[in-house]
Amino acid sequence: MCGIVGYSGPQNSVGPIIEGLSRLEYRGYDSAGICLKINNELQIVKKEGKLDNLKALLNESKPFSNTGIGHTRWATHGAVTTDNAHPHGNEIFAVVHNGIIENAPSLKKDLIAEGFQFKSQTDSEVFLVLLTKFYKQTGNTLQSISKAFNLITGNSAFVITEKASDKLYAIKRSAPLVVGENKDNREAFVSSDPFALVGFAPRIYFPQDGVICEGVVTANDVTINFYELDLTPSSRYKFQANSMSMDTTTKGPYEHYMLKEIHEQPALVDKLAAFYIKNEGRKELDSLKGFKAPAWHLTACGTAWHAGLVIKNYFEQINRQRADVDIASEFRYREPILNKGEVGLFISQSGETADTLACQELCKEKGIETFSIVNTEGSTLFRNSDKNFLIHAGVEIGVASTKAFTLQALTGYLMSRAMEGTLDDPKLFSEIQLLSNRIGELCAQSDSLKEVAEKIYTKKGFIFTGRGKYFPIALEGALKLKEIAYVHAEGYAAGELKHGPIALIDENIVNIAVVGPELLEKTVSNVEEVKARRGIMVVVGPKNSPEIEHLADAYIPLDFNGLPNLSPLYVNVALQFLAYHIAKLKGTDIDKPRNLAKSVTVE
Ligand code: F6R
Repeated sequence: MCGIVGYSGPQNSVGPIIEGLSRLEYRGYDSAGICLKINNELQIVKKEGKLDNLKALLNESKPFSNTGIGHTRWATHGAVTTDNAHPHGNEIFAVVHNGIIENAPSLKKDLIAEGFQFKSQTDSEVFLVLLTKFYKQTGNTLQSISKAFNLITGNSAFVITEKASDKLYAIKRSAPLVVGENKDNREAFVSSDPFALVGFAPRIYFPQDGVICEGVVTANDVTINFYELDLTPSSRYKFQANSMSMDTTTKGPYEHYMLKEIHEQPALVDKLAAFYIKNEGRKELDSLKGFKAPAWHLTACGTAWHAGLVIKNYFEQINRQRADVDIASEFRYREPILNKGEVGLFISQSGETADTLACQELCKEKGIETFSIVNTEGSTLFRNSDKNFLIHAGVEIGVASTKAFTLQALTGYLMSRAMEGTLDDPKLFSEIQLLSNRIGELCAQSDSLKEVAEKIYTKKGFIFTGRGKYFPIALEGALKLKEIAYVHAEGYAAGELKHGPIALIDENIVNIAVVGPELLEKTVSNVEEVKARRGIMVVVGPKNSPEIEHLADAYIPLDFNGLPNLSPLYVNVALQFLAYHIAKLKGTDIDKPRNLAKSVTVE
C-alpha cells in the first residue's frame, strides 16, 4: 500500500526521501508528497499522479531541509487528488499515514462540531486534527500522539514531523513500520519498508503496535527513543541489521522489473533447493520430518492463494494430510472450525497483507500453531509465526507477482517432502534442477511466446482452463493477464467450462488451455467443444501431441518429462511470459499497473 519515508540528519533530506519513495513507489502511485522543515516552517509539496510529478516540482524549487517526511499514496478514503495526497499538515504538525482509520467519520463529525476544519476528504487528516487538538491542550507532542492514537480504530502507521523540533515520530497498529539509524552520519530514518532504508540505515528496529518511536538528532549523536502509550520507556522493539542488498534496486538489462524477476527464477529455484536440502535451511525442514497435522488451514490472497492451491495438492497427494485453502478475506469472517493440533499456514510475499495477518491472529486466538511461507524476513507475518519457511526470492518490485509464486509453491513442495522424510532422495534434487533448466529454456525462448501474444492481444476476453494440478495455474495465468494487460480474463477448471462459461465463447474470446500429459484425452474433448463454437484456442501443452496440436490456433509446446510434481510451476512461467508480452503490446504500465499496489495493508 502506501509508502512512507522520513529522514532527519545533517544532509538534505530530499535525497534519501525521494530515493526511498522511488523504491517504494510500487506500493502505491496515485499521488506523492513531501513535507520539509525550511526556515522553521513546515512546507508541503505534493502532487497527484506518479512520483515523477513530485520530482519535477522539487527539481524546480530545489529545496534544502534537514528534516522531512514523504509518502506515495494508494487511495483508500478520498479521490486521487492533490488535496488528498499526503503529507497532511498545518502550522504545528505534518503527518503521513498508511492504513485506514475505521472510525474516522464519527471522529471527524465531532471535531467539526468542535470547530476544527478539514482540507481533504481523507481519514488520515483526522489524525492530524486530533494531534493538533491535543497539542493545543497539552503543548506536548508525545502526549498528543498517545491521546490521538488511543482514539482511533483500524490498522495504521503514522509518521509525524513538527514545527517545534527536528524530531521524527512514528507509531503503528498492525501496519508495517521500521525505524533506522546511521550513527556515523548522525541520521535517523523511518519507513514502511526496510527496502527504502538499504544503503542508508545499517541498524533498523521493528517497533511493536502502540510503541511511539522518537528519532532525535543532536549535534553529536542520533538516538531512537521508544515509549509506551503511557509515555514510560518501552523495550517492545526488535533490533535487526539491515541485510537487504542494493542490486535489487535496479532493472539491470531488462526493460521491466517483472521481466527481470521472471528471468531470475532459474537461479532462485536452484538457490532455494540448495538452501533447504543441503545448507542452513535443512534443519528447519528436518523439524517437519514425520509431522502430521489433523488438518492444515492454508490462507493467503491473490497469487499467494494460488500457490496455496498448488501446495494443498502436495500435502494431500504426497502426505495424505487434509489441507483446506482459503482466501484470507473469506476465512476470517466465515467462522472456520479450528481444532487444537491443526496448523494455520499463511502464504505471503510481503508478510504484511492485512487480511492474511488477521487470519493468523484468528488462528492464534483459537490456540492453533501458525506457520508461514513468506518472502520478507522481519515482516509482521514472519515475526508472529511459530515457524517460518522463507522463500528467499529477494525483493519483488514488479507489482504483478511472478518469482514469489514459483518459490512459494516450491517451498510448499519441499515442506511436503520433508514431512515425507524424502529430502535425501537424489531424485528430488535433480527434479528441482530440471525445473530450473526448463524455466531457463522458456526464458531463452520468450520470443516464441511473443509471437503467440501478437496473434491474440487484440481479443476481447480470455478464458484460462486447467484440470487437476493445472487448475491453480489457470487461475494464476488469468490473474496475471488481467492485472497487467487490463483485459477481462477468468480461470476455470477445464471441466466447468460447459457448466456456464462456454456461453461466452465466440470468435472474440480466447481459450488458453493449460494441458498436461495427465488426462490429455479428456482435455482434447474440451478443446473440440470450444473450437466448435468458433473460439480461439491457445494450448499450452506437451510437445509432440498431434492429437491436440492440430486443434489449436496457437500451440505452446512444453517438455513435461521428469517433472511429475513440479510441472505446474514450469507451465506457469509460460503464462507469465504470455501476460507480459500481451501487456507490452497493449502498452500498459507493466511494473505499476493502474489501481494496484504491491502490498495490501488494508482490509
Ligand atoms: C498478484 C499479486 C497479488 C498478491 C496478493 C498477496 O500478482 O501480486 O495478488 O499476491 O496481494 O500479497 P502477499 O503475497 O504480499 O500477501
